[in-house]
Amino acid sequence: MTNKYMYFIANWKMFGGIKSLNSLNKVIKFSISFKKKKFIKIVYCPPNTLINLLSEKVRNSKIFVGAQNCHEKEKFGPFTGSVNAKMLKSIGAKYVIIGHSEVRQIGESNKLINQKIQSAIKSGLKVIFCIGESLQEKKRKSTKKVLTKQIKLGLDKIRNKKSILIAYEPVWAIGSGLIPKPLELFKTINFIKKKLKNNKVLYGGSVNSKNIHQLNSINNIDGYLIGGASQNSKKFIDIIKKTYN
Ligand code: PGA
Repeated sequence: MTNKYMYFIANWKMFGGIKSLNSLNKVIKFSISFKKKKFIKIVYCPPNTLINLLSEKVRNSKIFVGAQNCHEKEKFGPFTGSVNAKMLKSIGAKYVIIGHSEVRQIGESNKLINQKIQSAIKSGLKVIFCIGESLQEKKRKSTKKVLTKQIKLGLDKIRNKKSILIAYEPVWAIGSGLIPKPLELFKTINFIKKKLKNNKVLYGGSVNSKNIHQLNSINNIDGYLIGGASQNSKKFIDIIKKTYN
């Protein structure tokens, strides 16, 4: 239970068609009527194909829209298949996820992440910057080292960092049903907060309505990045309700 300002960010990944938007009606209603609504910030990050429609749909609600990635260049250019931050902003996105492990795994480097973050900030998007260690790195006890490097290179030369949300997502926790042990998670979040004193730090990786009580007992988390469970409105609302009840 909390009375803290918290972010609930839905990452739909490569799921969802036009019909999926109907499921948002419940969440829109909830966001308007929830008695603790002043404490919550809900952001939906659908695939790019739905950003425009989704932002129209949530226009009069308390829900914001974000993208899941962007190209590093700020200007238009000959980059087939790519979309930049400015284009995303022009269709209603206010946020963008950058550095997600599923994108890192297909070759996105810390340097590229840094360029994307710079471009997103210049284009006026708020950044949700994902960091996290793999299972191997965890076993090697190099979590702190990995996070330090990801933060240092990812945020290199970025002066106005304050509006960047950090999402700590251990790679081994994503989609696996596993979450870190409470004390371990508390310590890792604290470690990140000591490095980035002015930034909010969210947790992501298998957040669901069953483990949310356990996660909420860790009182230094500023919100959640939610994948699988965010595709089901009831489960998503449940996560928020259980955070405040
Ligand atoms: P998950 O995904 O909640 O399905 O584990 C989280 C994420 O990848 O952002």
